[in-house]
Amino acid sequence: MTRPALVHLIAAARPNFMKVAPLWHALKATSDFQPVIVHTGQHYDAAMSDDIFTDLGLPAPDHHLGIGSGTHAEQTGRVMIAYEALAMAERPDWLIVVGDVNSTAAASMAAGKLRIPIVHLEAGLRSRDRDMPEELNRLVTDVLADVLWTPSRDADDNLIAEGIPAERITRVGNIMMDSYELVRPAILAADYPGELGYRPGSYGAVTLHRPSNVDVPEQLDRLVEALIAVQAHLPLIFPVHPRTRQRLGDEGMSRLEAAGIRMVGPAAYVRFMSLVAGAAAVITDSGGIQEETTYLGIPCLTLRENTERPITISEGTAQLVNADNLLDRLLAALGQPKNDRKRPEYWDGRTAQRCVDDLRRRTAGAAG
Ligand code: UD1
Repeated sequence: MTRPALVHLIAAARPNFMKVAPLWHALKATSDFQPVIVHTGQHYDAAMSDDIFTDLGLPAPDHHLGIGSGTHAEQTGRVMIAYEALAMAERPDWLIVVGDVNSTAAASMAAGKLRIPIVHLEAGLRSRDRDMPEELNRLVTDVLADVLWTPSRDADDNLIAEGIPAERITRVGNIMMDSYELVRPAILAADYPGELGYRPGSYGAVTLHRPSNVDVPEQLDRLVEALIAVQAHLPLIFPVHPRTRQRLGDEGMSRLEAAGIRMVGPAAYVRFMSLVAGAAAVITDSGGIQEETTYLGIPCLTLRENTERPITISEGTAQLVNADNLLDRLLAALGQPKNDRKRPEYWDGRTAQRCVDDLRRRTAGAAG
């Protein structure tokens, strides 16, 4: 009997873990693949990392590279050096990278030069905004990837337009929905809003962490004012990302709290999703939350000038807003009757299985 194919899965930062988990479970259930989790250590706080592993039934990582925070080049360089050493020692049959964080591009660069076949899950998304560090990570990763697993047709179209051969692309759907379905009973039972004293549908949830929103003091100040204005109409719960906590400082936190906004720390996956699922609306600059709200049919006010996930607008519940029009757009969205929109194609909780099927087909092709 031939040995199972060794598959390295890179897990680095919070939004990666919900993409890695369903795939790890699906690969682990086979006899022909051996999944190995490589945590780069880009995120390290318990609420940003270990607690999410626990929520999603993931074991402790097989390898931890411990690279931590730093500038973009420091973080990228440290992952490249550490992952190159591991990849040379283990020689995986496949490297799977997910999303668009610094570790995604860094591991791909290290593996590409070792000629380890690279698969990118969530390939093809484009904001066309190179001020966004993630956009550069997406471009680099997709040009290096041997296999591109896309969530939606717009992603296929982007890749084809960039000259990626069609045979490298497989549309697998949105893996985030697999994570939701994997632990849906726990999410529905969690009632984090209830613990905080809020009834379902009576509050809005807020998340903010993009450098373009939180690293520029004037922009952050405008957003703080806009959120305070919203609070007068809809009570807000705001789990604060560490980057945003640093930028707000004690003064910014106190201003939001004094207005009645409920400031809490980052929540792990199950508690956080129970907050989203019970919200009347969500205000966010996150990529993944645009998708989760579309899946759940909850209005999403996306505080950005552009999005790499246009399907959340064309087929979903999201719209792009700014500090000036946030309140008006929110009130209008809350006034709309909730309609039963259909979910985008392949956002069905079966993406991980499509990934395994495709990997099996390609592994057999490489061997034959
Ligand atoms: C990173 C990703 C971003 C993703 C986000 C989700 C890149 C370029 N950015 O941004 O795409 O949407 O994760 O959270 O890869 N920190 C902690 N504890 C942690 C992690 C970070 O306190 O566990 C603090 C550190 O001071 C750090 C700062 O947060 O400097 C920012 O972390 P970093 O990983 O650089 O970027 P994120 O803003 O989290």
